[in-house]
Amino acid sequence: MGTAGRFISFEGIDGAGKSTHIEALAAAFRAQGRVVTLTREPGGTPLAEKLRAIFLHDVMDGLTEALLAFAARRDHLRQVIEPALDRGEVVLCDRFTDATFAYQGGGRGFDLQVLSYLEKQVQTVTVQGAALLREPGLTIWFDLPPEIAAQRLAGARVPDKFEAQPAEFFRRVAAGYAQRMHESPQRFARIDANQSVEQVRDHVFAALQAKGWLA
Ligand code: TYD
Repeated sequence: MGTAGRFISFEGIDGAGKSTHIEALAAAFRAQGRVVTLTREPGGTPLAEKLRAIFLHDVMDGLTEALLAFAARRDHLRQVIEPALDRGEVVLCDRFTDATFAYQGGGRGFDLQVLSYLEKQVQTVTVQGAALLREPGLTIWFDLPPEIAAQRLAGARVPDKFEAQPAEFFRRVAAGYAQRMHESPQRFARIDANQSVEQVRDHVFAALQAKGWLA
């Protein structure tokens, strides 16, 4: 529906099950004739993918993590997201800035004001001569209790630095997402991810249809 660029992000604690639904949504948009850019953070460019590997596996403090996430984001925005939106594509991004507020802010307890400052510096872009703060037009938040997410992840693969965190960390991450949604309620669709894959998928599609972005 339409040809305007659309920027949609997907969020949630590790194990909440974003990936399956992002793929399904990409297929649905393509079936309707839209060009889809499927990407992720940290990552999405050669430089940002190098930063991702360091970010996920090296031990560092909250500020260093935040700076790496935003450095990767800056490159990703300039190289991939803005050009795709300019071409009128649908950009589906597996995590974006809400993850930094939730994980580094909520999870690690890092200063939210510094994150807000970095967000402004990194995400201010110029569109047709005017400066604007680039944010997703819609953020789908897969909300799942940490204990259930942990059960889903258990034995699935070798956990990275974040996946190895205790439930208490993920409770703070979830609170970080809730706070972001509280600040921008019109941007968020919260989906109860403690349902069958089919039910969650129906809710994801309904959120897109409610926006008029998917037939
Ligand atoms: P994730 O998106 O879950 O990818 P995969 O499915 O391959 O594991 O992994 C990214 C991890 O990075 C996840 O634990 C969340 C974390 N993260 C942050 O801590 N801050 C950020 O700004 C972003 C984008 C991700």
